[in-house]
Amino acid sequence: FQDFGVQNEPILGYREGSQERCELAEELKRTAACTEDVPIVIGDELIKTGDVRHQVMPHDHSRKLAKFYYADQKTIQKAIDVSVEAQRRWDRTSLEERVCIFQRAAELMAGEHRQRLNAATMLGQSKSVIQAEIDAACELIDFFRFNVFFLKENAKYQPISEDPSVTRNSLRFRGIDGFIAAISPFNFTAIGGNLAYTPALMGNGVVWKPSDTALLSNWRIFNILRDAGMPAGVVNFVPADGPTFGRTITSSPHLAGVNFTGSVPTFNWIWNEVGKNLDKYRNYPRLIGECGGKNYHFIHPSADVQSVVTSTIRSAFEYNGQKCSACSRMYVPKSLYEPIKQGLLAERAKLKIGDPTDFSVFTGAVIDDKAFARITGYIKNAKNNPKNKILGGGEFDDSKGYFVQPTIIETSDPHDKLMTEEIFGPVLTLYVYEDKDLSKALALVGSSTKFALTGAVFSKDKNFLKTALEELKMTAGNFYLNDKSTGSVVGQQPFGGGRMSGTNDKAGGPNYVMRWTSPQSIKETF
Ligand code: ALA
Repeated sequence: FQDFGVQNEPILGYREGSQERCELAEELKRTAACTEDVPIVIGDELIKTGDVRHQVMPHDHSRKLAKFYYADQKTIQKAIDVSVEAQRRWDRTSLEERVCIFQRAAELMAGEHRQRLNAATMLGQSKSVIQAEIDAACELIDFFRFNVFFLKENAKYQPISEDPSVTRNSLRFRGIDGFIAAISPFNFTAIGGNLAYTPALMGNGVVWKPSDTALLSNWRIFNILRDAGMPAGVVNFVPADGPTFGRTITSSPHLAGVNFTGSVPTFNWIWNEVGKNLDKYRNYPRLIGECGGKNYHFIHPSADVQSVVTSTIRSAFEYNGQKCSACSRMYVPKSLYEPIKQGLLAERAKLKIGDPTDFSVFTGAVIDDKAFARITGYIKNAKNNPKNKILGGGEFDDSKGYFVQPTIIETSDPHDKLMTEEIFGPVLTLYVYEDKDLSKALALVGSSTKFALTGAVFSKDKNFLKTALEELKMTAGNFYLNDKSTGSVVGQQPFGGGRMSGTNDKAGGPNYVMRWTSPQSIKETF
C-alpha cells in the first residue's frame, strides 16, 4: 500500500485573498444557509426517532445548524448488535485494505473536504479560523496518518524463533471480539475522529456517540470515512442522551471497551457500572479516558516576562479556555507581579471576541447555555469573595450568543476553587507568591488539585528547570519548559494526563493504537 510518510499536515495561513480563505468563505456560507438533517446511522440504515434535537451556533443561538435525533435504548442496542456482527467480518479484512481506507480518508480531509470540516467546526463549535484549522484539519489528518504509521511500526516487531527451520513464532493484531463505545467531546473535532476510528483501524466494531455540540463536524467525519470505503456497520453513528447510552452499553455482554473524553464524574460512573457488570462480560472491557485538568503556568523569578505574557494569554484564552490543556491557574513571583499583570491586561484588552466567521476574531462564544451558566457562576462567586479580585474582564452576555469576556482574577488563597476546580472557560486565576517562598509555591502545584494533565514552567535558570522537572514530575502528563501548556501536536507531544486527568494512554503516540488490539501469539511447528 501507498506510504504517505509521517509528516504533520502543514497549517494553512488563510491570508486575505488566499485560495483557502476564498474556499472557506464559500463553505461557511453554504453550511450556514441550511439546517442539515442528520440521521442516526446503524449499518446501512438511516434512522430518525421522535426525539428531535438541534445543534445551534453558540455565537448566535437562534440559528440552527443541524437537526438530529436521539437514539433510544432499543436503537442503541441495535447499533451494538450490528457493530458486533460487522466486527467479525472487518477483523478478517487485511491490514493493507484497512490502512488504505484510513489513508484515503486522510487525503480527503486534507483536500476537498478540508473546508467543510473547518466550516462545521467554526459554526457549530464557535472556533476561530486558526483554531479550526489546527483541529478539524491538521490534528484530525495527523491522527489518521500517524496511527497508520504507528500500527505499521508496531507490527514490525515479531517474536524471536530459536530455530526457524523447526518453529516460527509470530504475533498478530486482532480486534477485540465485541464492540467499542466511543464517547467524544465537543472541544476538538479531531478527538471525535480519533476516539471513534482508532479502534476501527485496529479491527474493532464501534458504536459512536458524538457530542451534541459537535454534531455536524462529527457527521462530516463519518461521511468522509464512508466515502473512503469504510464498510457499513463498522462504525455506527448514534447520538443519544448520555445516561441512556451509558446504561445500554455498560449492560451489554459484548462491551469490549470504552474510548472516552469528558468529565471525571461521567468516567467514574462508567467505571463503576463496568465494575458492577463484570460477571456479564465476555471480555474485560478496556477503559480509556481523558477527563480534564487544572493546568498551570508556574513562573520563576528569572522568567522572560514577554514570553510569559504571550504564552499565558494564548493558553488561557484561545478557544475560550475550552481546550482540555488550557492554563487556568498561574503562580507568579512577587518580583515579576507588576510587569506580568500589566502585560496580561494590555494583551487581554486587544482580544476580539465575536462571530468566529469574521476572520479577524480571536475567539467565538462558549459552547452552550450550561457552559455559560457554569463559567459565569465562578465569575459571580469571585466578585463576591473578598479574597479574589477581578483584574480584567468579568463581563458576560448571552442575549445573542454565549459570550464571556476573557477574565483575569487574582486570588490570595491558593486553595480557592478558582485555583483547584476545572472551570473549562476563559477564566485565568493568578496567585502571587513571595520570592523567598519559591519551594512552598512549587509544592502547591501538585497538592492543590487531583488533576495532572498539562503544566508549564517559565524560567531562564537551568538549575531551576531541573528542580521543576523532578518536583513537578507527577503534576502533568504533558509538561512544557518555557512554552504554553496547550498545542500538543500528534507525533510530537503524545497527549494525556495522569492522576484524575485520565488513563494517560497518549493519543497521538505509538502506544495508543496498541490499546485497541488483542494480540495473538502463534507458534507454528514444522
Ligand atoms: N492538542 C490539544 C492541545 O494540546 C489537545 O491543546
